[in-house]
Amino acid sequence: MLPNVLEVARQLIRERVTTGATVVDATMGNGNDTLFLAQLVGARGRVIAYDIQPQAIDNTRMRLERENVLDRVELRLDSHEKMSQLTEPVSAIMFNLGYLPGGNKQITTKASSTIKAIEAGMGTLKPGGIMTIVVYWGHPAGVAEKEAVETFCAELPQTEYLVLKYQYLNQRNQAPFLLAVERR
Ligand SMILES: C[S@@+](CC[C@H](N)C(=O)[O-])C[C@H]1O[C@@H](n2cnc3c(N)ncnc32)[C@H](O)[C@@H]1O
Repeated sequence: MLPNVLEVARQLIRERVTTGATVVDATMGNGNDTLFLAQLVGARGRVIAYDIQPQAIDNTRMRLERENVLDRVELRLDSHEKMSQLTEPVSAIMFNLGYLPGGNKQITTKASSTIKAIEAGMGTLKPGGIMTIVVYWGHPAGVAEKEAVETFCAELPQTEYLVLKYQYLNQRNQAPFLLAVERR
């Protein structure tokens, strides 16, 4: 079967990130991507993960402790726009837009802060590094966010970035899609 958007995002990251790398999970949620990244970078790597909800931090911490990988992860209760403060270049950044699964559906990522975070992320991405953005837009703030993110990524200069969109065209109900941005 063809892979879903999350599987493709992980495949693209796996092909570009080596052990010991520093990477970012911009939307920690319940920690699925944080765990994936922590296992990928290994004991000498570093993952910086952001979320604005304490529930996300608690769920992710428990998850990482259970898998014995918390030592290489910094859990930041902060908006992903704060990526602008990172001083070390990173190999990969994962965004998974929308609301916390199992949490308050009113608290979602939003167009203006997401765009600021993507811009900040671009500034910290290494040449050859990759940013993946999984866009779930089936919630009230989702349509505006999807349009803003797609427009922003489509206008990135092609001499500096490669931008990919991956989406099933025949799915009903606002099918999620993946944007992947590789810095040349
Ligand atoms: C779809 S969920 C992420 C799912 C996550 N990747 C996982 O594996 O469970 C989106 C998350 O983004 C968080 N979020 C919303 N606005 C944010 C912001 N400005 N900065 C960082 N995280 C934010 C939400 O609290 C929510 O947990």
